[in-house]
Amino acid sequence: MNKGNVLRFESLVVHYKNRRIFSLRRSGGIRAVDEVSMSLEQGKIMGIVGESGSGKSSLLKALCKFIPIQGGRIFIEEVDITEFSDRKFFPYRRKVQMIPQDFFDIFDPKMTVKEILAEPLEIHFGELSSQEKEARILELLELVELDDTLIERLPSQLSGGQRQRISIARALAVNPMILICDEIVSACDLYAQKQILKLLTTLNREKNIAMLFVSHNIAVIAHLCHDIIVMHRGKFLEIGSLEMLRGSSNSYVQSLMDAVPHLKMAKKWKER
Ligand SMILES: Nc1ncnc2c1ncn2[C@@H]1O[C@H](COP(=O)(O)OP(=O)(O)OP(=O)(O)O)[C@@H](O)[C@H]1O
Ligand SMILES: [Mg+2]
Repeated sequence: MNKGNVLRFESLVVHYKNRRIFSLRRSGGIRAVDEVSMSLEQGKIMGIVGESGSGKSSLLKALCKFIPIQGGRIFIEEVDITEFSDRKFFPYRRKVQMIPQDFFDIFDPKMTVKEILAEPLEIHFGELSSQEKEARILELLELVELDDTLIERLPSQLSGGQRQRISIARALAVNPMILICDEIVSACDLYAQKQILKLLTTLNREKNIAMLFVSHNIAVIAHLCHDIIVMHRGKFLEIGSLEMLRGSSNSYVQSLMDAVPHLKMAKKWKER
């Protein structure tokens, strides 16, 4: 299997201009992502941890081209897509799929499960017949271990864990190379968390999908990810294996590492 970089970025900057309604003071805005670089190999899971406001979601959205960047370059399969128009980016959008933290951020609450899953197939696989699309939808539901009786339901008629699986199924509908996961288990109970993490593990192993996985939960990150980025105020403080991070001289990184209870399990996972 080719082990090239599926995703790479260099000196990436996301800058939000502050609109100060109640103040006349001038402000330079905020550099939510401040000149960060990394590469992600096929089949690798990269975890990102960092306190609230450190720039994690901004980074993920920028990588999916949902928000503009103010500096740096983004490469997908070593093709520089930084300046690509929507039209030119279209074939790449399929390769990089984001699973959002909040389902209702990107999905229409009035669409049924079937419509939500059919949409990406219509956009990216318009040549499929309606029977083929239906079969694919059932296959996707099976993949995320959801009953096909849910197909006519609205998102509001699903549990949080079921909605999260629909998000995953939708992202998988277009056979992505990279899954971008933003706090996808934080709203789930422990059982649903475990099931979703198991599913991601299987997808990673069987389909060799690379992932960027953001979580506040360092234990989850340590268990799932091959390498970990510690993000702080828009910068990457550290990037490396759990062992490397444990040896970090940075006090913030150290305090995060102290919070991991099952390092043996995480180590075993990493050695696979
Ligand atoms: N649309 C926006 N306009 C202006 N500032 C923004 C916008 N979105 C995010 N920010 C700011 O950018 C910084 C990084 O936000 P971001 O959402 O990327 O952080 P995060 O690490 O994902 O936080 P959390 O863990 O709470 O989800 C924060 O200071 C935030 O207030
Ligand atoms: Mg966030």
